[in-house]
Amino acid sequence: MILNSKLHKSIIRFILDGKIKEIDFSKTTELRPTTTVLNYLRSLPDHKGVKEGCAEGDCGACTVVLGELNENNKLSYKTITSCLVFLPMIHGKQLITVENLVDRNNKKVLLHPVQHALVKSNGSQCGYCTPGIIMSLFALYKNHNNPTREIIEDALTGNLCRCTGYQPIINAAQKACTNNGIDHFTEKEPEIVELLKQINKEEKTISIITETQKYFKPRLLSEALVLKRQYPNALIINGASEIALKQTKKYELLKEIIDLSDVDELKIFKENDKEFIIGTGLSLEKIKANVKDKLPAFYDLLKVFASLQIRNIATLGGNIASASPIGDTLPLLFAYKAKLKIICSDNERSLYITDFIKGYRLTDLKPDEIIKSVIIHRPDKKEIIKYYKVSKRKDLDISTLSAGFRLFLDKDKNIKEIILAYGGMAAFTKRACKTEKFLLNKKWQRHYIEKAMEILYREYEPISDARAFAESRRIAAKNLLLKLYSETSH
Ligand SMILES: Cc1cc2nc3c(=O)[nH]c(=O)nc-3n(C[C@H](O)[C@H](O)[C@H](O)COP(=O)(O)OP(=O)(O)OC[C@H]3O[C@@H](n4cnc5c(N)ncnc54)[C@H](O)[C@@H]3O)c2cc1C
Ligand code: FES
Ligand code: FES
Repeated sequence: MILNSKLHKSIIRFILDGKIKEIDFSKTTELRPTTTVLNYLRSLPDHKGVKEGCAEGDCGACTVVLGELNENNKLSYKTITSCLVFLPMIHGKQLITVENLVDRNNKKVLLHPVQHALVKSNGSQCGYCTPGIIMSLFALYKNHNNPTREIIEDALTGNLCRCTGYQPIINAAQKACTNNGIDHFTEKEPEIVELLKQINKEEKTISIITETQKYFKPRLLSEALVLKRQYPNALIINGASEIALKQTKKYELLKEIIDLSDVDELKIFKENDKEFIIGTGLSLEKIKANVKDKLPAFYDLLKVFASLQIRNIATLGGNIASASPIGDTLPLLFAYKAKLKIICSDNERSLYITDFIKGYRLTDLKPDEIIKSVIIHRPDKKEIIKYYKVSKRKDLDISTLSAGFRLFLDKDKNIKEIILAYGGMAAFTKRACKTEKFLLNKKWQRHYIEKAMEILYREYEPISDARAFAESRRIAAKNLLLKLYSETSH
């Protein structure tokens, strides 16, 4: 069996406090493979700076930073919400907490520049949010020199502060981030890189089998597929930003997990004249950087998707496979006419996203399959592709409804192709087929749009829930069509 020769023991290794830390799950009863990084840190005597606020990725009090080896064997730093990350997910990475920021190597104990700036800007009151905010500022400091206000706000979107107000915190960010990321971590970087290389040199699947749980973390896609065939009921995780909630909010025991977060073959972004190929394991934040000038509607979507902490781990594969009626990428992928490459250990197939979504959280995926990549045809310059999200807040909010639109007009402004795909209007992402049919071959003119809005108003039967009444969803849906018209009619 290929797998048995490659199975690694129940051990994970990562760096904490500058040293390799090892957890052997076969020797501990206190830690489970699905223990979150937050709960692990809180169990240590000297890492209690990290806080739990919500245990669902919303408040940012649990923010820590991961240092990872990038393709150039340098360290890159990213924030994560530790309440949603399982311990094996940090194998082969450096875990940095607020306790690590002070520089203790000098004779004096020196605050990190971001800590110093937050103190000077009066950026903390009760202090509950402060360790999380410091960690977001730390990652900002390492990644950006003189960041714009937009970049600072984006870095802080995932950190709630109920008492200080954000201006002093933004002031601190502006004050601190002027030193090209140089700090005591810079000095220690070569040492940490060597340690990480040592941990990462083995390409074996981590296999943690306890009395109640099985957790596999393959490095190769082929191994992941063999595992999926062996354990068809195992939950696939990538960023775990959906799945972890089953444990943190519903207290479910996750019995079998195949964690794809270390499978590099799923982290690709490729393009050619015709199409973009996006690996389902690439984080949404990396996709955001890649699509900025290439697929502007996708970039617009990712600007209002969750928070930086979530986008740093969450993936496109996870959003698609969740098949949530309000999954944000789905309406846009419908508009792009995206195709999915689906793979199992002895077969590969392609499927349009519209055929993949079958119902409420229901997809065409078979138990032994994994979605490998998403293929987006490079839109023609004359095609208009738009994405709109309606939510109660702009930042870190789940959609009330969202829409992905595609429009192609001929030179006389006749509608030659139109896709109107909505999320949040039905049990799953759905195109407004009757409205599309009415508009096809009509002129792109206001009176046709108004008639189409009437059809659209009746086309869906949305539910009323905590986010919106059905009536307001219907009105918003037709108004989004009007918005498309107003933005494109000239
Ligand atoms: C605070 C917070 C904010 C959020 N905001 C948004 C938002 O604004 N918009 C939005 O749409 N969603 C949002 N989400 C939901 C979630 O972050 C996204 O759906 C995300 O894309 C899931 O990706 P993941 O890699 O974390 O998925 P995971 O939790 O790892 O997996 C989700 C599902 O997909 C399956 N899966 C994952 N990868 C594959 C694969 N390659 N092949 C087959 N199956 C696979 C898993 O088995 C699981 O069923 C939010 C979540 C949180 C916690
Ligand atoms: S505890 Fe609130 S985001 Fe983790
Ligand atoms: S200082 Fe009290 S929540 Fe931010």
